[in-house]
Amino acid sequence: MTSNWTPSSWQALPAMQQPESPDPAELERVLKQVASLPPLVFAGEARNLTTQLGRAARGEAFLLQAGDCAESFDEFSADAIRDKLKIILQMAVVLTYSSGVPAIKVGRIAGQFAKPRSSPTETVDGVELPSFRGHLVNSPVFSAAARTPDPERLLAAYHQSAATLNLLRAFTQGGFADLTRVHQWNREFVASSPAGQRYEEVAAGIDRALRFMAACGVDTETEPQLHQADMWTSHEALVLGYEEALTRRDSLTGDWYDCSAHMLWIGERTRQLDGAHVEFLSGVGNPIGCKLGPTATPEEALALCERLNPDRVDGRLTFISRMGADQVEDRLRPILRAVTDAGHPVLWACDPMHGNTFTSESGHKTRHLEDVLSEISGFFAAHRAEGTWPGGVHIELTGGDVTECLGGSTEVLAADLDTRYETVCDPRLNGRQSLDLAFRLAELLSKQQR
Ligand code: TRP
Ligand code: MN
Repeated sequence: MTSNWTPSSWQALPAMQQPESPDPAELERVLKQVASLPPLVFAGEARNLTTQLGRAARGEAFLLQAGDCAESFDEFSADAIRDKLKIILQMAVVLTYSSGVPAIKVGRIAGQFAKPRSSPTETVDGVELPSFRGHLVNSPVFSAAARTPDPERLLAAYHQSAATLNLLRAFTQGGFADLTRVHQWNREFVASSPAGQRYEEVAAGIDRALRFMAACGVDTETEPQLHQADMWTSHEALVLGYEEALTRRDSLTGDWYDCSAHMLWIGERTRQLDGAHVEFLSGVGNPIGCKLGPTATPEEALALCERLNPDRVDGRLTFISRMGADQVEDRLRPILRAVTDAGHPVLWACDPMHGNTFTSESGHKTRHLEDVLSEISGFFAAHRAEGTWPGGVHIELTGGDVTECLGGSTEVLAADLDTRYETVCDPRLNGRQSLDLAFRLAELLSKQQR
């Protein structure tokens, strides 16, 4: 934090990827209203997450950050939220049971509504319109009206986030995430796959472990850790007016927190050292992430550490590398070395999705599970070579039976992509592919030296 940081100090700096509202007065009015609404999370929760992530930074835990590329106003239902939670719980169970490493579950959920775009406009049949920037900003429908940024969407996103978070809290604290229910998280279309069958073995093992503990005299009925799970929320802090409006001073410590989510991250396109996004997040107390693409240098990474975590707090800063399967080992190693030599505590997470996207012959933006897994392997190899801890992954997935990414033990083929391609942005792993990934990850984690 610079000494003259305020929730609005970012406004003096160049802010990339911001929507251009045709009606600034209307935007101002809506932002005031958002600023008057209750915070979505409490500062103490954000501090607790920092403590948890600190454990992952030190090699005592693993971050599982997962969810939609972009949440949608049109796919907002209890079932969709429940199904996403189910697959994240299943993955967490596989990771923890198979490797013995606790998984910190952070959703790309309850606020992941804004998207950076490589081009500000999109041209279809000679018509040029503003690009779709996520439901926080405009609609994906290709018409001038739909693509015009609408400030009312900030309020809609706030309310959808509140309702989503409320349901997540109810599910995770109210019995749905109970370890005696592991079998019930396995949905039909997942259970019938090789990964789903492997999952049933893990679930049976957990049943046995619980019975064993009870037989040993442990009171498994009343131990809350067995019946409740922690699930945290996160999104890319992209539209800074919205984030500022939800930034509040914590009455306990006097520090500022961005209360739109527990964890916020800075995207690859907005991580300029002298830019508005880095300035804004440098001053809030939340745990924060920063994406690092293949062009990131060790010098940039070090400067970001100094700027975003000058007090060197464990768990404050997560670097999420998204280098591409071919490049990850070579690009990441010098960064790992430089940051470690400088003594900066960083939680290293791997985003194996965004560096491995291509367009199929049918014109679908897609990813191959093999490339995703190969980037994760390269990420682990880089850490093995440098003696650092591969502390987490950052995945785009959905609980549904979609056909957006290729491959998997129940293989999605190029010809299948059109069947259920439902994403409003990037292609997501389906439930089966997500479990495939969890098993692969569990194997890598068990082998990694701690
Ligand atoms: N409370 C622990 C946790 O959140 C254990 C746990 C309970 C759990 N339910 C879970 C772990 C569901 C994974 C999935 O980690
Ligand atoms: Mn994405």
